[in-house]
Amino acid sequence: MQLSPMRKPFISRMRMPGDKSITHRAILFSTLMRGTSEIQGWLRAGDTEASLRVAQAFGTKVREKSGDRLILEGAGGIMAWTEPRQPIDCGNSGTTTRLATGLATGRRGYLTVLYGDESLSQRPMARVTGPLADLGASVWTRQGGLAPIAIKGGGVSGGTVHLKVASAQVKSSLLLAGLLGGGSLTVGEPIATRDHTERMLTAMGAKMVTQPEVAGFRITVDPHPEAFPAVDVKVPGDPSSGAFWATLAALLPGSRLVLESVSLNPGRLGFYRLLQAMGAAIEFQERGRDPEPWGDILIAHGALRAVDVVRQQVPAMIDELPLVALLASQAKGVTTVTGAEELRVKESDRIKTTMEGLVRMGSQIEELPDGLRVHGPTSLRGTVVNAHRDHRIAMMLTIASAVAEGSTELEGGEAVAISYPAFFETYGTIAK
Ligand code: S3P
Repeated sequence: MQLSPMRKPFISRMRMPGDKSITHRAILFSTLMRGTSEIQGWLRAGDTEASLRVAQAFGTKVREKSGDRLILEGAGGIMAWTEPRQPIDCGNSGTTTRLATGLATGRRGYLTVLYGDESLSQRPMARVTGPLADLGASVWTRQGGLAPIAIKGGGVSGGTVHLKVASAQVKSSLLLAGLLGGGSLTVGEPIATRDHTERMLTAMGAKMVTQPEVAGFRITVDPHPEAFPAVDVKVPGDPSSGAFWATLAALLPGSRLVLESVSLNPGRLGFYRLLQAMGAAIEFQERGRDPEPWGDILIAHGALRAVDVVRQQVPAMIDELPLVALLASQAKGVTTVTGAEELRVKESDRIKTTMEGLVRMGSQIEELPDGLRVHGPTSLRGTVVNAHRDHRIAMMLTIASAVAEGSTELEGGEAVAISYPAFFETYGTIAK
């Protein structure tokens, strides 16, 4: 795909596709509900289709599926579940796989097998299967803690788990196992991560208590094996998708952008706070809370300066770190990102794939075991770059091409279908 630079300021108001994290949860949690729920503004993309396959395998039925509206007839809770008849294809989605693993421990005696694509089959799953096995679950993985995962339901007892990695996916998996298990379960996280699972399960009627603990939270969930009455979910726009356009606005002089009706969950805003610290003008306008805070984010270009990102800041901007590297390449000074080794086990090794693309385009980046050091500012030039089958790398490199000299040949752009199928269509209208 051939991409040309953008020379004019970027002035726009935009709506983002539905939030991916919230859509995953709304779909997967339908298996715990009795009755019809409407998921308004859902993200229809490769990753969330994987969650839909899981929900359907347990007995959720799709009543209506349109661009904006997904109407599901809940599976009716674990006692009404069907046993999946065949292994379930989780595609490229770590969120689907990890949350489904916790969920699948819920129904005693049922066998669930989860598998995925080449990238998913290399991502660490022992971070969920290990703690689940310690709590009494019967779970198996391939050698090295890799998918496929097989789960024979039942056996999870209450207790306390202290997570070693700060991961909302792992936390959510354990909370689901606790909700469907045999006793109160407390999960402690080392650093606060996005709390969509806690908010949605509480809105459904689950009993959960969250208390602060060092840099994160400890969450206690009581067992609730009975079905929940169905709830409707309004999905705000995805701030992680908005971050690509926010980066473009921050980089092109004279730009002003409003991202309308996006999730303002504090666990998702780290990137925007960092952009503010780097010198862009950012304003958050909250417009509602039901139960997720949502509203508009205003972004305007500013002269950018280097900043450091440390471990504590990482979870709230984990998916946006490739964009931080791009911004840092255009900012004055040396930006160091540390405590971000989680980047190595995302859809690609994002320390390597971010560096590879940006260095090819002319930026100066050093690889650290747990992050990156970026020397800025450097001018970028168009060349051949590869997305390495990673949706966020494809989109970051597209934004890089917009601020580069000369045209860029992007290989593997089709990866955007995982989280943002309309990305290039939108880009085409902006770049015109
Ligand atoms: C997600 C959590 C994050 C994030 C992913 C979605 C979620 O992963 O990278 O895109 O929906 O819970 P980790 O929690 O494993 O870091």
